[in-house]
Amino acid sequence: MTNTIVDQFNRPMRDLRISVTDRCQFRCSYCMPKEVFGDDYQFLEPHLLLSFDEIERVARAFVALGVRKIRLTGGEPLMRKGLVDLIRRLNDIDGLDDIGLTTNAMLLYKQHAQALYDAGLKRLNISLDALDDSLFRELNGRGIGPQKILENIDHANEIGFHIKINMVVQKGVNEQEIVPMAQYFKDRGMTLRFIEFMDVGNDNGWSFEKVVTKKEIVDRLAEHFDLEPVDKDYFGEVASRYRYQDTQHDVGFITSVSESFCSSCTRIRLSSDGKLFNCLFAVSGRDLRGPLRNGIDDEELASLIKNNWESRTDRYSDERVEQRKKRQNKKINMSYIGG
Ligand code: GTP
Ligand code: 5AD
Ligand code: SF4
Ligand code: SF4
Repeated sequence: MTNTIVDQFNRPMRDLRISVTDRCQFRCSYCMPKEVFGDDYQFLEPHLLLSFDEIERVARAFVALGVRKIRLTGGEPLMRKGLVDLIRRLNDIDGLDDIGLTTNAMLLYKQHAQALYDAGLKRLNISLDALDDSLFRELNGRGIGPQKILENIDHANEIGFHIKINMVVQKGVNEQEIVPMAQYFKDRGMTLRFIEFMDVGNDNGWSFEKVVTKKEIVDRLAEHFDLEPVDKDYFGEVASRYRYQDTQHDVGFITSVSESFCSSCTRIRLSSDGKLFNCLFAVSGRDLRGPLRNGIDDEELASLIKNNWESRTDRYSDERVEQRKKRQNKKINMSYIGG
């Protein structure tokens, strides 16, 4: 089985990120600002979402074309009913090496976490932007405290999940949490990744001034910890990593703004309503749901996916300054595409 397909910049298609819902309980201002995602916001109706049969079919087609890693995202993926069943189905696909899930961990209570683990999920990336009680309540826009989330993280860790924590750092908002978060997760042996605030979507009030860069974060950490850089684990790894000296514990940085990583971008995204997006900052996607519901056969599905990737030229972060002007108010929302 030979199955590496490459895009216009010779990047192989390796990772598929599947959004399973556009809903979330949180209202993080950088992703689903309350003013936009209010009580009357129209989320996708259930019949517009890809069913598990459809997702499984698409996933199999991608794996046959070289995808080795699937990440489930949302919105908040644990809000999709029956997710354990989907994990089980994906876990049965021959040739797929890795399944991950990106979550806010609110619904990751003990039995649920165990069921997900037993179904074949082994890796969790958990979004957490602060430890401080009142700041966390403010940041999630819903007044939800961090205690339950931290308990869920500990339980998941005990179950055996490999866990990474994602912290989006915003200037003047949660910078003071950088060192406490680093200390807390170092003590627990979990990798914390600092994410530079990105201009995804059109509504999050982004500007360069609000970004805290990797360099600034490293400088701050260096006042408290001895860090040494570590090589990337594999081609296309999003984070650059440092190790706390004399330990096996890492801290990571996702530097879409200060050091773009488009040249090794092996990721493709499938929205919950079945559109394929070649970039997180894309303006439009290619519909798969229509063809799936109109009886497309396996061969046609494979060639649709293949042609889409082979014609790909996306590299938004490399060209941020020019592209921001061109795409003003046209980019897809992060909660829809799943980060
Ligand atoms: P691993 O499989 O653990 O490496 O996961 P990941 O880092 O790819 O996924 P995760 O969902 O944890 O993403 C962490 C952050 O990286 C999020 O803010 C994503 O939006 C961002 N990110 C992931 N992939 C890309 C990408 O291709 N481009 C950009 N610009 N950001 C990305
Ligand atoms: N900039 C950076 N990261 C973001 N995320 C959501 N919106 C943004 C943004 N504007 C992160 C979430 C989550 C991951 C999927 O994406 O915090 O960890
Ligand atoms: Fe929800 Fe994650 Fe978006 Fe926050 S960043 S609103 S937790 S999907
Ligand atoms: Fe990939 Fe687009 Fe992110 Fe660049 S900006 S790394 S092309 S998803």
